[in-house]
Amino acid sequence: MKFLSALALTLCTSVALATPLESRSGTILTQAEVEARFRPYNITASSTGGCITRSISTCTSYDGFYSGTVNGVISLRQGSGASGLVVTGGTEVGHASSSVYSHSNGYKADLRHVAALDNYIKGQFTRIGDRSDGYPQWQSPSGNLFCDEGSHWDITIY
Ligand SMILES: *[C@@H]1O[C@H](CO)[C@@H](O)[C@H](O)[C@H]1NC(C)=O
Repeated sequence: MKFLSALALTLCTSVALATPLESRSGTILTQAEVEARFRPYNITASSTGGCITRSISTCTSYDGFYSGTVNGVISLRQGSGASGLVVTGGTEVGHASSSVYSHSNGYKADLRHVAALDNYIKGQFTRIGDRSDGYPQWQSPSGNLFCDEGSHWDITIY
């Protein structure tokens, strides 16, 4: 009984403290943890430098991704029916970081265009106004953003 009320108190406290955005973003993961989650879905990384080091801008790093971002990429892979996805940008330095919801903070990933993914995003999500830099963007019911930067998708998972 004591245990149960302590548990109930803990649950209530964490629900009250966590904003919806925080709870969806989940927990920060390591490079190895993200690789292990992506591997079964054939989600791979590509970078001009052919490397994964977060402090080098030409690498594509998974180090510091939120689990919510990882789940978002996996959902796109599953929903789109693509045989795989290629991540071309992660938490490495060199991306814009004006917002809390940035690459470096683990909320954003860049994905290579592939027809199944393009069709899925444009078919499932709502076309909203262009981003301030003019690139078209789509939004999911939960608020996640999918911006077509021309050479790739820039996705933000809140
Ligand atoms: C894995 O994904 C790549 C594209 O990212 C694709 O070319 C390849 O065929 C996929 N492999 C399998 C086994 O589906």
